[in-house]
Amino acid sequence: MLILAIETSCDETACAVVKDGTQEICSVVASSKEFHEKTGGIVPEVAARKQVEFITPVINETFNKLSDKGYSKEDIDAVGVTVGPGLIGSLIVGIEAAKALSLALNKPLIPVNHLLGHIYANFVDNEAEIKFPGVVLVVSGGHTDLVLMKGHNDFEFLGGTLDDASGEAFDKVARLLGLSKYLGGRVLSETAEKCKENTIEGRLPRPMIDSDNYDFSFSGLKTAVKRLVEKEDLPTEVVAREFENAVVDVLVKKTSRAIKNTHAKSVLLGGGVAANKHLRESMETLAEKIKVDLYIPTIRLCTDNAVVIGSTAYFNQVGKPLDEIQPNPSLGIMDLV
Ligand code: KG4
Ligand code: ZN
Repeated sequence: MLILAIETSCDETACAVVKDGTQEICSVVASSKEFHEKTGGIVPEVAARKQVEFITPVINETFNKLSDKGYSKEDIDAVGVTVGPGLIGSLIVGIEAAKALSLALNKPLIPVNHLLGHIYANFVDNEAEIKFPGVVLVVSGGHTDLVLMKGHNDFEFLGGTLDDASGEAFDKVARLLGLSKYLGGRVLSETAEKCKENTIEGRLPRPMIDSDNYDFSFSGLKTAVKRLVEKEDLPTEVVAREFENAVVDVLVKKTSRAIKNTHAKSVLLGGGVAANKHLRESMETLAEKIKVDLYIPTIRLCTDNAVVIGSTAYFNQVGKPLDEIQPNPSLGIMDLV
């Protein structure tokens, strides 16, 4: 089954074709990131205008790539589209384009929850059969959630952030340290890699690390970094190292507790922060220690793209009448679309 998927929840305009939920046939991603870097943060109006500008060329390029792979438009069985969470103006562009394609191709339209997309990055081009139940840690710019995956379409929410998401904390601290004005997670992590010795080990808090639940809180950590750098003149790479360690310590400890308590057989990561080298390595160490299978998407599939939306559409969701498919900016990971 071939699904053509569209993703426009934020500042990426993406289209892809996916076979049987697991095989990427082709994928195109355009980003308006450079415009938001100039303003030091995303301006939703600008993001939506860029979606309008990019959507048609991105879809056209996807069709060109599809034909290069020997398929035609008639081979497409369904269209999938992200309906939330995300920015309303951006979501609308993708949804309307997807409705038009669904009508033109005369194929069903499947609404998709973007957050499940981050989980399904693990099912793309993965030969191994993922054993259930699995504990999933979704760490993105807007979300930090722990979910128990008992099977496709069978999820149980374990916990999530009470305030800032982990990616948001990375971005805010990167800005505070003068490393990047917009989406500084990767730069902060690269800076931390330069630290030869963490001379302030343990000086930043590990919020909620020992609390008897699966919730997170990262806003206090950001404030602690602010106080520390105001008080002391520390090398940026040392602060970056200690901050990254603090976030990763909490994520790994909570995930470890969830695996033990649920007797999970696998652990899966997803979302932009899953690209973080220190988190990936720490999860590998944990998985080896407690003997569970670990799945981490390739870096390319950690950040927003349409391949994972096509995969989610295949495994989870059903087609709906077009007038029932509407954007939902505040959709949670467990919300039905
Ligand atoms: O999943 P994503 O592309 O967007 C949302 O759906 O939110 O995630 C973007 C987030 C940003 O906060 C970005 O700074 C963070 O992922 N990120 C990283 C790294 N690469 C991206 N955070 C830490 N280390 C990285 N290497
Ligand atoms: Zn995302």
